[in-house]
Amino acid sequence: MTIPVLTIDGPSGAGKGTISRLVAKKLGWNYLDSGSIYRSLAIALSQQGVDLADEMAIVKVAETMELAFECGDELRVNLDGVDITSQLGLESTGNTASIIAVLSQVRAALLAKQQSFRQGVGLVADGRDMGTVVFPDAPYKIFLTASAEERARRRYKQLKEKGIYANLSRLTIDIEERDRRDMERATAPLAMAENALYIDSSNMSIAAVIEEALNLIR
Ligand code: DC
Repeated sequence: MTIPVLTIDGPSGAGKGTISRLVAKKLGWNYLDSGSIYRSLAIALSQQGVDLADEMAIVKVAETMELAFECGDELRVNLDGVDITSQLGLESTGNTASIIAVLSQVRAALLAKQQSFRQGVGLVADGRDMGTVVFPDAPYKIFLTASAEERARRRYKQLKEKGIYANLSRLTIDIEERDRRDMERATAPLAMAENALYIDSSNMSIAAVIEEALNLIR
């Protein structure tokens, strides 16, 4: 029997992380935050001083880095035995992740790592290409989005709560730029899978989105 997967794809800040984690918890399914894999690679590259224009060097790091995930209330990530959780959410990490994510050989190098999360009774996978490339056979697919302004506002609130300095108009510009890069890249661009349920969460509560996701599976 194949292990069922619910894929939740969408742009940055649409609420995929929060929704995916809570749905996984409710169902007792595994959780894959695929963005954290791209983000961890971005951190590894910066630690090792790798040139972002050198695709083969990036692939090498992608193939050799050791990642360990611990999914409690917050996702904690160890890179080569060192806890990098505090750097994961930084805007600079997200921007570098988005830049290296356009490289097709880098994406290929990270594919098996992502697919290895399909274990236990089920998997909720959050990202950009979960339903289109990584788990195309997933029986349940959602495309979750929200307006760029609303996403920037949510991100601003999150950063403030963590005590990280943020500027709302800068965040909106960064989000729009990242959307463009994620959607326009040649390999596995951010796109809605053919059979995905489209949810615009701009004016929805977290509980309402979770309800729609659970209804899809019931
Ligand atoms: O979801 P996130 O913001 O943590 O992702 C950071 C970047 O990683 C995002 O801008 C693009 C890239 N990414 C990707 O290309 N494919 C995924 N499945 C997840 C993330």
